[in-house]
Amino acid sequence: MNGFYAIAIDGPSGAGKSTQAKRLAKEFSFIYVDTGAIYRTLGLACWRAGIDRKDAAAVMELLKTLDISIRYNAEGEQRMYLNGEDVSAEIRQPEISICASDVSSLQEVRSFLLDMQRKFARENNVVMDGRDIGTVVLPDAELKIFLTASAEARARRRLLDLKEKGIEEPFEDVLRDINYRDEQDSRRAAAPLRMAEDAVLVDSSDIGFEETFAILCELVIRRLAVSEV
Ligand code: DC
Repeated sequence: MNGFYAIAIDGPSGAGKSTQAKRLAKEFSFIYVDTGAIYRTLGLACWRAGIDRKDAAAVMELLKTLDISIRYNAEGEQRMYLNGEDVSAEIRQPEISICASDVSSLQEVRSFLLDMQRKFARENNVVMDGRDIGTVVLPDAELKIFLTASAEARARRRLLDLKEKGIEEPFEDVLRDINYRDEQDSRRAAAPLRMAEDAVLVDSSDIGFEETFAILCELVIRRLAVSEV
């Protein structure tokens, strides 16, 4: 413990990590850090530059020239900047999800981006979500949660999210993307998605958002001895 609390939330794509983490952060007045957005921003930069996302040397060469930063707006919402441009909306496009997964499987990329993520936890109470937060980024986090759900349940929720943003996708495509990313995120050699030994498993396949949120709040209150604001 460095004077600040850290809550790590890991799990597969579409398990509701970011929505839950965002709401938890608000509830307990912590800062929310969405680490996937960093990989997405790099994925977008590679996409724009037409770089082979599996070519570690090419990706690293590009990464070193980029200015990727996380900023928080007046509402406390995380925004991603690429060379000064707000790319927060663009990085949510389905094709950028695949680019993000590709670049995130490169060990050099992960090492390079590690300190940027840890810095937030050194300076703030954080709820941080990703794939390797409890295992690699913040192994000393006071509370680690592994939030998961079946691939079908996640695809159904993702479809609704996309629809709300005005993006129409067939269910099969969304499910295929989720399976592709699950497979790649769990099988990669570099910091694969896995549950930390001391994490609490929460499976939200058959429970709704509010019920899941109540479970998480209970865990935070019990483990951190903090109260809701
Ligand atoms: O959480 P997300 O879907 O926005 O993440 C985008 C990609 O980045 C996803 O394929 C996995 C990867 N990622 C990662 O490898 N490590 C993290 N801490 C966060 C995301």
